[in-house]
Amino acid sequence: MAKIVVTGGAGFIGSNFVHHLVEHTDSHVVVLDKFTYAANEASLMGMSGGRVTVVRGDICDANVVNEIVSHADAVVHFAAESHNDNSLEDPSPFVRTNLVGTYTLLEAVRRYGVRFHHVSTDEVYGDLPLGTPEKFTEYTPYNPSSPYSSTKAGSDMLVRAWVRSFGVSATLSNCSNNYGPFQHVEKFIPRQITNLIDGVKPKLYGAGHNVRDWIHAEDHSSAVLTILEQGTTGQTYLIGADGEQDNLSVLTTLLEIFGRPTDWFDHVTDRPGHDLRYAIDSTRLRQELGWEPTHGDFAEGLAATVDWYRTHEDWWRPQKDATEARYRVQETKLGEGRR
Ligand code: NAD
Ligand code: DAU
Repeated sequence: MAKIVVTGGAGFIGSNFVHHLVEHTDSHVVVLDKFTYAANEASLMGMSGGRVTVVRGDICDANVVNEIVSHADAVVHFAAESHNDNSLEDPSPFVRTNLVGTYTLLEAVRRYGVRFHHVSTDEVYGDLPLGTPEKFTEYTPYNPSSPYSSTKAGSDMLVRAWVRSFGVSATLSNCSNNYGPFQHVEKFIPRQITNLIDGVKPKLYGAGHNVRDWIHAEDHSSAVLTILEQGTTGQTYLIGADGEQDNLSVLTTLLEIFGRPTDWFDHVTDRPGHDLRYAIDSTRLRQELGWEPTHGDFAEGLAATVDWYRTHEDWWRPQKDATEARYRVQETKLGEGRR
């Protein structure tokens, strides 16, 4: 594919994917990104100007989208409002970007006959009980819990309808929780790493028994490229690396890396509607397309991620104070309850 458009390419996973494309393909990459609070120009440092072109634009703007898509061979769609806590505070940008933005892109790829890959989340399936072997598969019914996950579920439905009704050539993927470099400090792992660097106690929601299925962002990137190149039109692929950990265990590993006692953290008010557990069965992707993750050892990946934040303070420092200020407002609104 000579020219690949990456929406949201200045965000966490999108920028990891742009690095992956530059390293593993000869494609020219066009990043289309609105540069919301979640984007960081420095994530694409040194890339713009070569095989990477960066366009500041909104995926809800049909004029911008049509112009860019009309010259593309493929669109890989990462752009989204992505943070559950923000969606509980104000769902409106989630409805706009995740639904209207995806619709706008679908109309453009339909008009110009361009291959589309839609990047989505395992949260569309809701959650699983703790302590069972159950996992999400491509056949699990949709049951999203939050404004974020419900708008992602809606965007998945739009893609499926555009495939069936209009013959758009699209694939979909639903991935579990990503970690690695370039992740915004609002998210669990970078928030606690940067708190620890600052000598501030990490913040754990509730008792910390909620389970997430962690995958390194590089493995997510290689899976998306595999699906883009080999996936079957209309097919959904679940992406996961068997990385189930409860939040307390992740935090304990981080505290050990920083040489702090394992009880050196604050329990803060739990997230309303907090999903209990996610777990992915990625058999289809592995068996049909031969994909395998390469970051098998979560503790090793976490230690490397800590090193990355330690050595890239210039990247995250400008966002830290505003993020923590937002969390303080949220914590006050959620009530005085420290559980
Ligand atoms: P992110 O919040 O770090 O980045 C989102 C990017 O989209 C930002 O660069 C932002 O500026 C851009 N954007 C937002 N609104 C836009 C608009 N209207 N027009 C153009 N650009 C816009 O998100 P992320 O964590 O990198 O997630 C990327 C995608 O992967 C999302 O679709 C998300 O649902 C999905 N996903 C994320 C995870 C995860 O663990 N983070 C897991 C599975 C799936
Ligand atoms: O499962 C995929 C999803 O993973 C993606 O679709 C989302 O875009 C991505 O943000 C992520 O959603 P989560 O809500 O699981 O991620 P977050 O990093 O916000 O939280 C991870 C877990 O940590 C969750 O159980 C809540 C908890 N948490 C989070 C924060 C920010 C804490 O205990 N303390 C915190 O300070």
